[in-house]
Amino acid sequence: MKISFAAPVLPASGALVLTIAKGGVLDGMAAEADHATSGALSKAIAASHFDGEAKATLEVVAPPGLNVDRVLLVGSGEGLDVRLAEDIGGTVYTALATSGSESGVLFWPLAESAAAAGLGAALASYRFDKYRTQLQDKEKPTLAELTIASSDFEAAHKSYERDGARIVEAVAFARDFVSEPGNVLYPETYAEGLRDLESVGVSVEVFDHAALEELKMATLLGVAQGSAREARVVVMHWSGADGPPIVLVGKGVTFDTGGISIKPSSGMEEMKWDMGGSAAVAGAMRAIAGRKAAANVVGIVGLVENMPSATAQRPGDVVTSYSGQTVEVINTDAEGRLVLADLLAYVIERFKPHAVVDLATLTGAMVMALAHEYAGMFSNDDKLAASLVAAGEAVDEKLWRFPLHNTYDKMLKSQIADMKNIGPREAGAITAAQFLKRFVGNVPWAHLDIAGTAWTDKARPTVPKGATGYGVRLLDRLVRDVYES
Ligand code: BES
Ligand code: MN
Ligand code: ZN
Repeated sequence: MKISFAAPVLPASGALVLTIAKGGVLDGMAAEADHATSGALSKAIAASHFDGEAKATLEVVAPPGLNVDRVLLVGSGEGLDVRLAEDIGGTVYTALATSGSESGVLFWPLAESAAAAGLGAALASYRFDKYRTQLQDKEKPTLAELTIASSDFEAAHKSYERDGARIVEAVAFARDFVSEPGNVLYPETYAEGLRDLESVGVSVEVFDHAALEELKMATLLGVAQGSAREARVVVMHWSGADGPPIVLVGKGVTFDTGGISIKPSSGMEEMKWDMGGSAAVAGAMRAIAGRKAAANVVGIVGLVENMPSATAQRPGDVVTSYSGQTVEVINTDAEGRLVLADLLAYVIERFKPHAVVDLATLTGAMVMALAHEYAGMFSNDDKLAASLVAAGEAVDEKLWRFPLHNTYDKMLKSQIADMKNIGPREAGAITAAQFLKRFVGNVPWAHLDIAGTAWTDKARPTVPKGATGYGVRLLDRLVRDVYES
């Protein structure tokens, strides 16, 4: 769908969309449209519960006196800020998407958030239809263009093209990977797909199985060894500035059966999105490079498939990580931390980073704690943690901080190795983070457990059902606010 910006002029076809503030009073263009339709809009409001509450909608189809298919009234509530502008844009898109209208003109009351309304609409228009060969016409979107009509449309257009459109591309890039099934997206094909980042100026380095053996990334390779699909590690580098980089690390388990510690079959199909952390990193790299950010950013993702087989890792196996520390693998389903352990130690040694942020669909315990509203954060650095919380609030990818503490270390004691890969049932998300902490030393680091936020069964205004792309905007915002010179 095309987003455009124009001066506020009544359309002669398609949908006319008007924002109405809390209270439901028709003013400005809404009053004019009401007049032109001999009061059809005010009558519709009087006959409904619509009162301008934020994101509420009221559709008036084919009103007399105007040459439009429909007038859509959308509530702008009270205190219309940039975040609400995105949500209203998304709400408008969704209300019009399959309405029959092919175009819409949204009259936007505030010059400064017009670009945000466009961004929200574009984010809401994401679809993953490539495997649907039998879509009915009425299931297909009709809306091909949404115009945001605003007094300062030139500035909004500029801002949207520079930032908004880059974010939309980046989020879609991530959502596409997350949506793909495990038979299509596996380490080799995923690494190939990431090469696309070269088109925006990111250097992409792919390590195959032999290279990973050479590097001695044994905890990562241990997870991959049961699969017919070889592991890959992909390093993505955007050098928009000098100095130590910020490093983004992503868990990319393209399918997580649990391995020999196999998961129950019910719901296992969800484990195709166990690579959501890596997709967030890839999307963030795209956004950052897309707007040519003046920052030095490295992304690294560990791509493996966790399968049970005759060659699979056994419970009780002891592996020596890249860092030299040994791990007793009690449960092969706690595989994400084994992948991240090697990546974290490797990037810290190689890049001497300013800070490291990892994202992973790491634990079911995190979902139990926070459901799908917040992702969990663990950090050894208060400043980094505060910056992440602020970035998350700004883009509505919210974070809630959990503790790290040495007192949890005893839960990871092994009889035979330096540590085991799981603790007891209690505090499962914390012991996972405490495990990771052993591989980062003193570098400022944050771990984001996105198990509850990478996928959604319920659409939100700017996030359709399915792959959310959670983390792309968060990381992009963090880099923009903190690391860009
Ligand atoms: N990928 C899962 C975590 C997960 C669960 C993500 C549900 C999204 C939704 C992870 O690899 C896993 O299996 N974790 C185990 C750890 C346990 C064996 C200590 C879990 O959370 O059950
Ligand atoms: Mn698992
Ligand atoms: Zn997993």
